[in-house]
Amino acid sequence: MTDRYSAPSEASEVPDFPPDNVLDIVGIGFGPANLALSIAIEEHNAAESDAPVRARFFEKQPSFSWHPGMLLEGATMQIAFPKDLVTFRNPTSSYSFFSYLHACGRLVDFVNHQTFFPTRHEFQDYLQWAAGRVDADVRYGTEVTGVDAVRDGTGKAELFAVRTAEGEVVYARNVVLGIGLRARIPEWANESARCFHNHQFLFHLAEMPAPVHQRFVVVGAGQSAAEVVQYLHRNYPDAEVHNVFNRFGYSPADDSPYANRIFDPSTVDELHSAPHEERARLLELHRGTNYSVVDPDLIAEIYATEYRERVSGKRRLFMRRASEITGVEETATGIEVQVHSGLDGLDHTLMCDAVVLATGFTPAPLTPLLGDLAPAETPLRDVGRDYRLPTPDDIDGGIYLQGGTEKTHGITASLLSNTAIRAGEILGAVLERRGANLAGGHGELSLLGRIPDQHTYATSEAR
Ligand code: FDA
Repeated sequence: MTDRYSAPSEASEVPDFPPDNVLDIVGIGFGPANLALSIAIEEHNAAESDAPVRARFFEKQPSFSWHPGMLLEGATMQIAFPKDLVTFRNPTSSYSFFSYLHACGRLVDFVNHQTFFPTRHEFQDYLQWAAGRVDADVRYGTEVTGVDAVRDGTGKAELFAVRTAEGEVVYARNVVLGIGLRARIPEWANESARCFHNHQFLFHLAEMPAPVHQRFVVVGAGQSAAEVVQYLHRNYPDAEVHNVFNRFGYSPADDSPYANRIFDPSTVDELHSAPHEERARLLELHRGTNYSVVDPDLIAEIYATEYRERVSGKRRLFMRRASEITGVEETATGIEVQVHSGLDGLDHTLMCDAVVLATGFTPAPLTPLLGDLAPAETPLRDVGRDYRLPTPDDIDGGIYLQGGTEKTHGITASLLSNTAIRAGEILGAVLERRGANLAGGHGELSLLGRIPDQHTYATSEAR
């Protein structure tokens, strides 16, 4: 270690530091968002081989997987397949969904299928194919537990030290968080083998004690709730399924073309530069494009199922509308659920085998990872257009957010819709700052580089 730097206490064992061990980017999490970034980096490095970007990614799962607990048979994507990892940024990329189909020998069959919406199984296979192919340094099975600023003698922070659960420390000028969302658990719920969030649904189902009561409760009225209702009804042919929600009924997802523009890459510019109140108003008005809504085809299928049961008189599917759960209690053989109806004011007790909480997600909190570097405000209201987090000090590099920026960048913040463009924009921002640093004379720490051809990554041209 040179005496110009003082590493944080947790990061005191640092071989060859700096600048040889300093990466341009450390990516935390390797879901679709940082996978898209790794591809953008590979494509940049191929084009600019004299100024490669050095990156490493950490992923806590043992291998690449995309919401494996919800890979339900037949469930389809909620976005059109060209919103893949690359196409909006670079339509000629070899990592497109079309390239994947071609590589698997299914291109013609897929086109004959005449759909924009592949199954989640197929899209996850595409993502795994891309993750297996990309020339990226990915450390699977490795959880990042902390990020600290590394300061020079003057107190200026020029690097980040990224710590893993195993105690490894790596240094980078930029950190890109792609850590996904956190399951939202209602206050009344205690998570257990019989009471679980839908995110790990298939795994919980496999571990659940054998059903005794032949009854499930599913809480929520969004896409995941409807999918779980249909799955349980189909796969437990003797069981009742009670869907409890506070709406009157499922609402269809609005994917009509004008409303769908809320997901456009250019909308991020418009929303980010709009006054906070206007942005909030528009996001609230168009919640129905994404939140607490269900694919209309799925609504029709579930309704048809319920109607058939009404005809036959053999009821197993129950919609408990305008209702809420007021209490749950686990017993030796099941879980007792109290349901209160807001319409007639009556309370019902349902003895069930399991309660599935399809109650949505919230952005993953930043403080556990970033400590003092995390902004105090939640939700975040001051994130740069380039997804750079304002940090408390004058830090040269940046912490960039893939996800959790809905209040500043719009509904696409945690979705796939804008993944390709966002990855390019973040890489472009990192490269631009790297070039600026070089020009600004931070010679010792500047890691190669020159300002890239901005047309490769610029937002408006790339669209
Ligand atoms: P994602 O959650 O996928 O990945 C984050 C990764 O970070 C995880 O692999 C996690 O293990 C890892 N990680 C977290 N903390 C870490 C740490 N400290 N150290 C190391 N690794 C860490 N969106 C859409 O646009 N269209 C769609 O059809 C769907 N469908 C859909 C279905 C289901 C069932 C869900 C739950 C969600 C969707 N989504 C969606 C939304 C979803 O957020 C989106 O598809 C992507 O998963 C977002 O990708 P990210 O990489 O941002 O997060």
